[in-house]
Amino acid sequence: MDIHCSEKELFIFNKLARAAKELDVRCYVIGGFVRDKIIGRPTKDMDIVCERDGIELAQRAATHFNPSPSVSFFKNFGTAQIKTEGLEIEFVGARKESYRAHSRNPTVEPGTLEDDQLRRDFTINAMAISLNETDFGSLVDPFNGLADIAEKIIKTPLDPIQTFSDDPLRMMRAIRFATQLGFSIDPITFEAIKEDAGRIRIISQERISDELNKILLSPKPSIGLDLLYKSGLLQIIFPKMVDLAGAEYIDGMGHKDNFYHTLQVVDNICQKTDDLWLRWAAVLHDIAKPATKKFEKDHGWTFHGHEVVGARMVPKIFSTFKLPMNEKMRFVQKMVELHLRPISLTKENITDSAIRRLLFDAGDDIESLMILCEADITSKNKFKVRRYLENFELVRNRLKEVEEKDRIRNWQPPITGEMIMEIFGLPPGRMVGDLKNAIREGILDGLIENNYDAAYAFMLHKAKELGLQPVGQ
Ligand code: CTP
Repeated sequence: MDIHCSEKELFIFNKLARAAKELDVRCYVIGGFVRDKIIGRPTKDMDIVCERDGIELAQRAATHFNPSPSVSFFKNFGTAQIKTEGLEIEFVGARKESYRAHSRNPTVEPGTLEDDQLRRDFTINAMAISLNETDFGSLVDPFNGLADIAEKIIKTPLDPIQTFSDDPLRMMRAIRFATQLGFSIDPITFEAIKEDAGRIRIISQERISDELNKILLSPKPSIGLDLLYKSGLLQIIFPKMVDLAGAEYIDGMGHKDNFYHTLQVVDNICQKTDDLWLRWAAVLHDIAKPATKKFEKDHGWTFHGHEVVGARMVPKIFSTFKLPMNEKMRFVQKMVELHLRPISLTKENITDSAIRRLLFDAGDDIESLMILCEADITSKNKFKVRRYLENFELVRNRLKEVEEKDRIRNWQPPITGEMIMEIFGLPPGRMVGDLKNAIREGILDGLIENNYDAAYAFMLHKAKELGLQPVGQ
């Protein structure tokens, strides 16, 4: 074995090798598994390529395991999969494949290992380990992937224009691997991405979003986001984010470049959370700054209301990216809308009611919100950063104090809409909502105590103003 493998992996390889020998077919482990083994990353699925029908090999291989796993296959693609030993093993016949210009449908024909390696995306993804008797365990690396791993380079095996025209998503994959692995993209390959960026339009949104999410889940997403920007891909897949770039000057006064600020906020947040949606909230927190930007003679640049406008933009962005339109989207919306609130609580003499209100609005997501706000501090001035962080610590303490005292998170006012309808004999409608809100606001403002009797008395008082009285009085 040219590469160090675990006992379990060797056990599997031996079984696959035996099945291949029985069928007299040459077979190899190929792609991401080999790459990750060499880099020393945890491996996921195992891809097996053979110089004949992948389904036949999968079926034969399955008989060598105990219990024998079922084989799922796609006849049209000639691919098959078995799940065994906690691993997914994919089988495919070696092929030559090319995409016709302006078409998403590849033409495929059987080929040799070499053909198959040639049509792969990057040199580091084109390495194979032989499972054949004559050279079992040896690395087949025709494009020097090993050297590119050592030099941390992403490079295509063929002329990059050819490799990208076979599948334009590979332009994003290059950037995604550079981000995940901390590699750089070979200059010729990067130039080809710039040249071909427009071809990304033929790729489905799901595949694009999948790559974007992988970039966001990397340790330092700014690498990928900046490469997307510099290659021209971001301009096509996410123009609203590109609108954040640049700084305008009037009367010698400029504002910060909100694109690079956002990138830094995303990197900051990645040090504190692995949650994809909180990372998305960092991407989108200032998304409405371009739309709300104004220059005011006395104040300079302002972005009033960008948090509210930004929250309103979230559903459209999620739907464009085909991200889930469910509680994940609502969470991101809430984070964007509330992202300035903790800052406003760092001033002196903040009342309990302001703190209660934030606890009520953020609910269980208060900790995520604080993480976002702390990540939003990107000043280069270390003293300023320290002062902001200390102020946030004070806010955290106040939040804790008020929550312990008032239990506002997940709190529901003591009188519900149903109760109001019953007490006053009202049908559902605006008046019920008004009374309910008045009670909630009264408690959050500290005008009345948080209990049924106080709320009831307050409600009667408010109802009287509206000309209402309880049924039967
Ligand atoms: N591949 C390719 N072009 C693509 C997608 C995949 O050439 N557009 C090849 C590469 O050789 C890749 C292999 O198919 O290594 C497996 O693809 P995939 O499972 O998508 O990627 P991995 O490289 O395994 O990495 P990850 O699981 O992180 O996506």
